[in-house]
Order: sequence, then C-alpha cells, then structure tokens
Amino acid sequence: MLGPVLLTASRSETMRKIVGSTPITRPVVDRFVAGETLPDALTAVRSLAGDGIEVTLDHLGEDITSPAQAHASRDAYLRLLEALNGEGLGTRAEVSVKLSAFGQALDEDLALSGARAVCEAAEAAGTTVTLDMEDHTTVDSTLGILDELRRDFPRTGAVLQSYLFRTEDDARRLAVKGSRVRLVKGAYKEPASVAFQDKTEVDLAYVRCLKILMAGEGYPMIGSHDPRLIAIAEDLAARYGREKGSFEFQMLYGIRTDEQLRLAAQGHRVRAYIPYGADWYGYFMRRLAERPANLTFFLRSLI
Ligand code: FDA
Repeated sequence: MLGPVLLTASRSETMRKIVGSTPITRPVVDRFVAGETLPDALTAVRSLAGDGIEVTLDHLGEDITSPAQAHASRDAYLRLLEALNGEGLGTRAEVSVKLSAFGQALDEDLALSGARAVCEAAEAAGTTVTLDMEDHTTVDSTLGILDELRRDFPRTGAVLQSYLFRTEDDARRLAVKGSRVRLVKGAYKEPASVAFQDKTEVDLAYVRCLKILMAGEGYPMIGSHDPRLIAIAEDLAARYGREKGSFEFQMLYGIRTDEQLRLAAQGHRVRAYIPYGADWYGYFMRRLAERPANLTFFLRSLI
C-alpha cells in the first residue's frame, strides 16, 4: 500500500519542498547517499575500495527542465571523471547516468551529446558508463541512445527492469558480446498495462531475464539485494560455466553491506552504487518505497 504512495510522492514538487526543508531528514538520507560533494563521494570510493568493493557513482539529479541544467549535470560528471582519473581510481569506479538529468525529455540529441561527452571522459579515465533506466516511457529512447553510444564506446552499459513485460525481449537483444547489462526489478510506479504488479511475478521475470543474460555472451550485472535471486544467480553462473569475474553483483550504497562483503570475500566481483549530490529527494523516496522499515526509521527520526 505505502510503496505506491511514496512513489507518487517521489515526483511531487510540494513533497520535495516539505521533505527537503526538514533538517532532521539528513541523518536518514545519509544512510543511502554518500554526501553532497565530490570529495564526499571520493571518500566513499576509497573506503569501499579498501574492502575490495568496486563502485559506480551517480551524481544525483533527474527530470531537469532547461538545457542549462542538462549542461550542469554533464559538467558534474566531467569533474567526477577528472577526479577519478587524477586519483587513478578508474579501475575501481565507473559512473551511472540518468538521461533525464541530461535533458532526455527536452531534446534527445541534447541528452545524447551530454552522454557522449561523459563516455569520452570515462574512456580517458580508463572506465565506463552505465545508463540507468527510468520510467517505462523512456525505455525506447534510452536503448536508442545506448545503441548510438555503443558504436563508439562499446562497453557502455544499460539497465533492464524485470517488472516490464518487454524486458525478456530486450534482454535477448542485449545478451551479446561486449554488452554490459545491469538487471534490476525496477523502482518506478508503472501501470498494469506495461508491468507486472505482483512481486512474485516480478521475481519470476527476473529469473527468466537472468537466464537469458547468463546464457548469452555479454557481461551480466546482478543489481539486487534479494538473497534468493543472489543464490539463483550463483547457480545459473555454475550451470552456464561462467567464471567469477565474468559477471558481477551490484547493490546500493548502505544496503546489505554485510552481503556485499561476503560475496567479495568469496571472490565475486561486487560493485556498490554510490549516489552523491544535493538533489537526493527522488532517489531517497524510491528507497523508502522499497522497504516500509526504512519509512518507520525516517518517521521515528522526525518525532
Ligand atoms: P527487494 O526489494 O525484494 O529486496 C530484497 C531485500 O533487500 C529486502 O528484503 C531487504 O532486505 C533488502 N532491501 C531492498 N531494498 C532495500 C532498501 N531500500 N532499504 C533497505 N533494504 C533493502 N531501478 C530502476 O528502476 N532503474 C535503475 O537504473 C536502477 N538501478 C539500480 C542499481 C543497483 C546497483 C541496484 C541494486 C538497484 C537499482 N535499481 C534501479 C533499484 C531496483 O529496481 C530495486 O528497486 C531495488 O534494488 C530493490 O529490489 P531488490 O532486487 O533489492 O529486491
């Protein structure tokens, strides 16, 4: 019940102002977000690197409304990649990009040129870019931009969401040599016309898509904290003869950290998704929506 309400709130400007102006929100936000500045993000990268965990960095921001904001998002990533390059962290860290922050809804070419600049900087830093997936209305556009980027930057990755009916077909198309796909359940409020609404159906679809990716020639990235899906991924890797390192586990910063360490200690490649920046509202609300216990923690801190 609460999840859909929170997902609706995640896109409300009024709620953004109320939650954003409550100073007591900060400690709860800090559970999921590495900080507001680039040095905060770099501190988190170094700390996780010490634990054998690789990272993907997300400069927070989405749904911008002007080309100037799109350029600002691009420039934030260019500064990030310059810093990663300067510190020689390109082998430990890649970046995740939301095309809505690059102006996808305003002008697809604007988003493509911003993403292209980030891919160039990533290549110079010895790393790569993954395109996050947002709501279902953006999937065709995001996969189209992915195809364009992969012509020049073949290691550019994408995210597929198992809750969408279309995803098995997308997984089949992307399960090819050189392709990097992060498979997730999906975090947006989607209508029954395009997405499974039942959790079990989303999980079953996840397993079907994972089989396609594991059997294929690409590089699967298992983006989930779900213990059952993690165990199934390990079984499928064995079934399809995949060595450790030919796929990786990904989890969000601050969630199931013990499990991240356990998998890394077993020799698996593990990557934490680190968000940082001032525009944390949408990301934070989606994390609350995923788990009612997080909301209880948040509400308690308000009292
Ligand atoms: P599920 O929600 O069933 O959770 C399984 C268990 O994990 C829970 O029982 C709990 O223990 C723990 N857990 C999960 N969420 C938690 C939370 N918020 N707080 C505390 N514990 C939690 N989505 C999307 O639409 N587009 C995208 O680009 C991405 N990108 C992305 C990157 C990475 C690295 C990850 C891990 C996830 C995403 N997601 C995403 C989010 C994804 O779609 C999904 O909403 C969350 O991962 C939660 O689903 P789980 O698979 O973890 O299972």
